[in-house]
Amino acid sequence: MITGGAGFIGSHVVRLFVNKYPECTIINLDALTYAGNLENLKDIDTKPNYHFEKVNILDVKGLEEVFDKYQVTDVIHLAAESHVDRSIVSPMDFVYTNIIGTVNLLNVARAKWGPDYSNNRFYHISTDEVYGSLGDTGLFTEKTPYDPNSPYSASKASSDHFVRAYGETYHMQTVVSNCSNNYGPYHFPEKLIPLFIHNIIQEKPLPVYGDGLYTRDWLYVKDHALAIDLVFHTGVTGETYNIGGFNEWKNIDLVKLLCKQMDQKLGREEGHSEKLITYIKDRPGHDRRYAIDASKINRELGWKPAVTFEQGLSETIDWFLNNQEWLQNVTSGNYQHYYESMYHNR
Ligand code: NAD
Ligand code: DAU
Repeated sequence: MITGGAGFIGSHVVRLFVNKYPECTIINLDALTYAGNLENLKDIDTKPNYHFEKVNILDVKGLEEVFDKYQVTDVIHLAAESHVDRSIVSPMDFVYTNIIGTVNLLNVARAKWGPDYSNNRFYHISTDEVYGSLGDTGLFTEKTPYDPNSPYSASKASSDHFVRAYGETYHMQTVVSNCSNNYGPYHFPEKLIPLFIHNIIQEKPLPVYGDGLYTRDWLYVKDHALAIDLVFHTGVTGETYNIGGFNEWKNIDLVKLLCKQMDQKLGREEGHSEKLITYIKDRPGHDRRYAIDASKINRELGWKPAVTFEQGLSETIDWFLNNQEWLQNVTSGNYQHYYESMYHNR
């Protein structure tokens, strides 16, 4: 069972598993919040080994029914509230889904699988944001102490601790991975790259927070899905694996590269989209720099990113340009209302 499979990363993981493991039953459990979109899985949703269940991880009875119905053997848990800016506005949504929802899932898995967990894996997908912020140098390793700064990262840190604690206390076969910023097709246009692609298409301002010198480590989402497959099948129980792109970019440099690539693809004159860059008030508690040391997963499991940033970004832009109907669907209705409230008067 994959939770959050209708979201950005989850949909890539579901697609990979449904296609690669036709002999396995893959259940996508998702509440379909604003970020969940079954259109993301149109190409595989008629496959015989794919099943969708619209269940909220806050609904314990609903979870129990799904475990019983399919005799769930393993969980890959991606369902979460995932946007830092939303967590600043509505922290409780993050407490409920990310902390309580994860503990619900652990409790149901424990009740259905125990007391002998040797054939059942609980794999929790987490983020590099739990480690806090780096200075100009250094990398996050699996040994870096947790130091979360946003309600989002605090809620993810808490859920990581619960997963680890259930592994230690009840001997559940848990594993955790902490990944850096993903980008690629189906990325919800509230996050930096898809939002800016959308705004460049529409020639709307590109709202850069603060001085734009914040650094993130970007990984193509399909490389993350491959890493998840590997950790799920070969990761050592009780261990944590950091996953990253070895690919640091200051936001402003990334935005300028995006503008340049999009001007070329849209046949606009060079420098056209850069004029849309608008510096706005900073995100409160904004972490200055993230960068992952992914050498453990490379050394122990043999994973490394396959797609270069230039190639991945180009493919991502092409995908958004070729799927503008998808973009329109997700930017209408409720999302539009959210967008206005977030950027109005800023
Ligand atoms: P997303 O917001 O695109 O998707 C989240 C999915 O979870 C949606 O389909 C949503 O409907 C579902 N969901 C939310 N609340 C739910 C609930 N209460 N019950 C059931 N389903 C619910 O998120 P994403 O960017 O794909 O991230 C997936 C996971 O990966 C998250 O756990 C996130 O913390 C983690 N992560 C994300 C990134 C990134 O760069 N996006 C990086 C590292 C880790
Ligand atoms: O590091 C992994 C994390 O990456 C994941 O755990 C989160 O789920 C995911 O949302 C992402 O978090 P970030 O906060 O890093 O991503 P976001 O795209 O929101 O922002 C990336 C950077 O761009 C960050 O420094 C803030 C900045 N930014 C973002 C937006 C939306 C802007 O300057 N302007 C914007 O409008």
